[in-house]
Amino acid sequence: MKCKKGIILAGGTGSRLYPLTISVNKQLMPIYDKPAIYYPLSVLMLAGIDEILIISTPHDIQGMKSLLKDGNHFGLKITYKVQDKPRGLPEAFTLGEEFIDNEPVAMILGDNFFYGHGLSSTLLRAATDVTKANIFLYSVKDPSAYGVAKLNSQGDAMLDVIEKPKTYISPWAVTGLYFFPPDICEKAKNLEPSERGELEITDLIREYIKEDKVDINCFNRGYVWFDVGSPDALLQASNFVEVIQNRQDILISSPEEIAWRMGMIKKTEYIDLIKNMPTSTYRNSLQQTLEQ
Ligand code: DAU
Repeated sequence: MKCKKGIILAGGTGSRLYPLTISVNKQLMPIYDKPAIYYPLSVLMLAGIDEILIISTPHDIQGMKSLLKDGNHFGLKITYKVQDKPRGLPEAFTLGEEFIDNEPVAMILGDNFFYGHGLSSTLLRAATDVTKANIFLYSVKDPSAYGVAKLNSQGDAMLDVIEKPKTYISPWAVTGLYFFPPDICEKAKNLEPSERGELEITDLIREYIKEDKVDINCFNRGYVWFDVGSPDALLQASNFVEVIQNRQDILISSPEEIAWRMGMIKKTEYIDLIKNMPTSTYRNSLQQTLEQ
């Protein structure tokens, strides 16, 4: 069954970015020339997903709404839901049960950044027929800050997954992009909080491992993944976008451009969107895409 729906989980406390996050949500911070949430939004769009639920805190939901509205200008249908406390990632699937409505669903964390050659085709493939959990892995130098996957000796199947392991398991961090089949809501309802008092996405993935229903996608060399939850990562992601955009004269993760190229909006609508923007480097870059 094709996946047409996606959730962006964009709440949390953002405590690691204090004092930046006292008044501004992490997902609304800039990654170079765009709000951070444009990047995960673009990933969902590249997967052909056009129905999107954004989950955020009572304090920040208004900021998300004024930024993205109902999504119509991007050819999307965006709705919103409040998470009153950060009880853990799997709560997205209980809060989102009505939205998911027994269909497959993608989830992406609002602070995740992906870029690489072939990303669009990987995403489109992943969204084509979601009967298993589809998990995206990225090899990192220090995986201890993430969920980490234990793979079989061929490296093509996941045997286990551990949240922020204290001892070394593998370099394969579980990125914040997941595709799940329709039974995700039932599974999420039965989860218990971990020792640190949170519902863990890794516990949810483990349920699919038990049923032998996990597909993995390992992002190898040439891909970039950041979780911009720290000041260093926020700066590194910004620097990365600046270097590629200015060197190649392209835009990374512009929802307007993706909407046009994916046929979610017509060219005339794209031109109108650009016309109605204030003069800015972003507007100039979009204008360039029409001339390229
Ligand atoms: O980024 C990938 C990692 O994300 C995975 O490797 C881990 O398995 C996964 O648990 C998660 O780890 P983090 O430590 O990065 O999770 P964090 O608490 O920072 O939350 C990630 C995003 O989700 C962040 O943008 C805030 C948002 N969030 C988080 C929680 C716990 C919510 O909106 N609600 C929540 O309840």
